[in-house]
Formats: sequence, structure tokens, C-alpha cells
Amino acid sequence: MVSKVIPVEPFDLVVFGATGDLAQRKILPALFRRFCAGQIPHGTRIIGAARSGFSTAAYRSQLAQRLDRDISLNNADPDALAQFLQLVSYVPLDGSSESGWSDLHDQLSVAESGRVQVYYFSVGPALFGPLAERLHSYGLTNAATRIVVEKPFGHDLASARALNRTLASHFDEGQIYRIDHYLGKETVQNLMAVRFGNMLFEPLWNSQYVDHIQITVAETVGVRGREAYYERSGAMRDMMQNHLMQLLCLIAMEPPAKFDPDAVRDEKLKVIRALDPVEPYHIVRGQYAPTHPAAGDDDDYRQTVGDQRTSTESYVALKAHISNWRWAGTPFYLRTGKRLAARSSVINVLFKDAPHSIFGEEAGRHANHLKIRLQPNEGITLSVTIKEPGPGGMRLMDVPLDMSFADALGTKGGNPADAYERLIMDVVRGNQTLFMRGDEVEAAWGWIDPIIADWQARGDVPKPYESGSTGPGDADLLLRRDQREWRGINP
Ligand code: BG6
Repeated sequence: MVSKVIPVEPFDLVVFGATGDLAQRKILPALFRRFCAGQIPHGTRIIGAARSGFSTAAYRSQLAQRLDRDISLNNADPDALAQFLQLVSYVPLDGSSESGWSDLHDQLSVAESGRVQVYYFSVGPALFGPLAERLHSYGLTNAATRIVVEKPFGHDLASARALNRTLASHFDEGQIYRIDHYLGKETVQNLMAVRFGNMLFEPLWNSQYVDHIQITVAETVGVRGREAYYERSGAMRDMMQNHLMQLLCLIAMEPPAKFDPDAVRDEKLKVIRALDPVEPYHIVRGQYAPTHPAAGDDDDYRQTVGDQRTSTESYVALKAHISNWRWAGTPFYLRTGKRLAARSSVINVLFKDAPHSIFGEEAGRHANHLKIRLQPNEGITLSVTIKEPGPGGMRLMDVPLDMSFADALGTKGGNPADAYERLIMDVVRGNQTLFMRGDEVEAAWGWIDPIIADWQARGDVPKPYESGSTGPGDADLLLRRDQREWRGINP
């Protein structure tokens, strides 16, 4: 499969927080890979900015060590690294004071007018306002300026609104790129291709034919290394408010008239606004706990975060209803958790039984099932009912029509573009389709906030579940009460 590279003009990209984990692990490697793919033209300038007093030479050599691994992973030309590093420079700068800003100004002032300038805020939200303000006061913005902001975008509706207001006082909405990296995943975009590129599914995509939908994002990792952040956040804020909500929107939204930013985001927003408040008994919270006293590293949430009384959830499952014509009566079951049995993000669409079986009771009841595997082992499986082969009457069985994207697209063994590669180049090209709009983020918080407020009011304590399991037993009850069951979480 030949990857198609859409050329861009030379641009400037400043990464604030350039020595931080996200910049080193995701943003700069993504830029390097795009450079290797021939998408980043010479003349582009990538400027790392952070408080540490590095020289450009020291920053480049630190980066070289980090990117060396990428060279072998991507079979990149070793000379490419030296060429890429020539585009990179470093400015010591403090986002919350005046220190370093004149230097950044000097570096950028030689830009030709109209050149795309991307400022990537890879810093905590407390710095978004100060950075935006200084970019303006130092004359570092023009009509082609774009800012990229990372999650968490707020902690609740009030803080998200405040952030939106702060950013809006310096930038137009069209200049603000709020990242949810799930939207940059190849297979997440494939959800839209599958739904709106085929005639096959869309006529059945409603409550008349779909019994229910399950969205699972299971992880094997725990929270080690991110304890402080996670304790303030929990699974609801860390995953449900953003990644699972985005998946829900893409699976449930009406077809947009065009694949353009506002058409897509308008439809997603309508889904969030049509969500009913969730009943407290339709939510299960969990916290991973050791399987036995001598458990392994990071098997015990409370021990990992160093608080034996913490009530932060590392798992959440809930049943959601969308009150609109398409989905009234079809429940959506969403679950996500850490330290589960497998790493797997899957959407299962369970269709209803055929209304009448012409084959009689002994043939059994069979329903179609579409499984969309987002990661790993990306692909789609549609279960179809056929006759069991051989003599012995008309017995039915389900067989999978299975398509692995790696097999079908001939990408087996290759490294598909990382979400950050795609999203960063979308920013450079000025395409906001895969970024969250301010009203979307606020609507998502508006749905989540009452749930968290209710937990706090009731002093709710998450149910323990064994590390390496499929989550708390109560999550199974959530479906069993509806005579349904979760599909396995194995990929
Ligand atoms: C991040 C969350 O946004 O997404 C993490 O903060 C989570 O807690 C991660 O582990 C999952 O992303 P992915 O791409 O590994 O599925």
C-alpha cells in the first residue's frame, strides 16, 4: 500500500513543553516520521521551548537519542535524522513570566508573512491563558496562526468554559485545535468510512434493527508514573468524557452533508446533546486491586497512588440512551478500565433477531453482530447465519465474515501512521475536522458533571476488581439485568 503524502508549504511549529513526556514521546517523533515520509519540506522550523536551559545543540542531541529508536522501527535512512535535526532549534522560555519571549520573537521574526505558524501547547491547562496572552503581546501571531491544545481540556464544565473564554479572547475558534488523539487513529476514522461509504450498513443503523451497541476501551496498563494526574481525574474524566464520547458520537451521529469540520462537528454535538442523564444504577465504578497479597508491580491502585482510602475509579461502565428518532430504545453500553485482561478497543453492534424464524425453534435464535476492532488487530467482523453443513436437517450456525485491515490493505508488519502524525499535519493544513470544537467539549462535560457530582454527594466508593480481570462483577450485572452480556474484551 503506497501512502499518499499531501505536500505542505514550509511552516513554523513551536512546541511549548518541549522537554516534557508528550513532546518527547509523541509530538517530535511524529514530526520526524512525517519528515521521513517526505511531508515536511526544508525551510520548516521546529522550535522547542521549555524552562530548562538547554542550548540548541544539547536539545538536538537529547532528541537524537530519543529518535534513534524510531529509525530502526521505521527503517528510516540514518541520514534523515541529521537532516531533520537541522530543522530543530531550542529556546529556553518560561510560559508564566517574560523570560525567553524576546528570544522566541527574534527567532520567528524572520518569517515571511502569511507563513503557517503552529503553537503546540504541550503543557498543563494552567499555562494556556498565559501562553495565549504572551503570543499576542509579543506580536507572535498572524492570520495563519494555529494553536494546539492537549487534554485535559478542563476538569468540569465550569473550567472548560473558562478555558474556552480565555482562548477565545485571543484566537478565533478556527485557530484553536483541541486534540483528542482517538480521532487521529486510522480505524476511528474508518468508522465514518464504513458507515457513510457503504450502502450496506446505514439502512440498518437504527433502533429498529440494532438491539444494542457496546463500546469497550480496555487497557492492561495501570497508572504508575501518572499517579497525581490520575488521582485528580479517574476513568470518567480521563477516558469517558473524551475518547469514549468521541467513539459514541461517530457511531451514533447522523450522516453529515459533507466531510468538513463544522458539518461533522455539528452532527457529533447533536448526539451529545441528545444523551439522557444517566441513572446512578446504570453506572458501575471500579478500582483495580491485587489478586493476592503478594501481587505484582502496579496491581493495587491504592498502593500505587499511596492512598488507602482513595475513591478514584480506574474503571467505569455505564448504560447510555440517546433520545432521538434514530436511537430511542437502543441502549449504548460503554466501559473502560486500566489493568484489565487485554488491551483492546472494540465496538460491537448487536443486531436484533430475525422477527420470525421459518426454521422452527430447534434451529435456534441467531442475530447478526458487527464487531469493529479499533486496536490492536484492526478490522471488522460481521457474523452471518448459515446452515450447518451436512445432513441432519436445517440447523443454523453463525460464521464470521472477517476482515483484518492489515491483511486486506497489505500493511501487515508495517507501522501505520500514528494518530499524532495525522493530527499535526491536519493542523498545518488547517483542517479541523478531527479536532473538538469548544461547544462539543462543553456539552460532553455537561453530561459527565452530574454523574461525578452524584458520586461525590453520595460518597460513592468504587468496587474493587482484580488486576488482569475483565472488571468488576457489577458491570456484568448491568447487562444481565437487561438479558444481555458483554462481548469478551480479547482483541
Ligand atoms: C490517554 C489517557 O488520553 O489515552 C490514558 O490519558 C490512556 O490514560 C490513553 O492510557 C490511551 O490511549 P491509547 O492510544 O493507548 O489507546
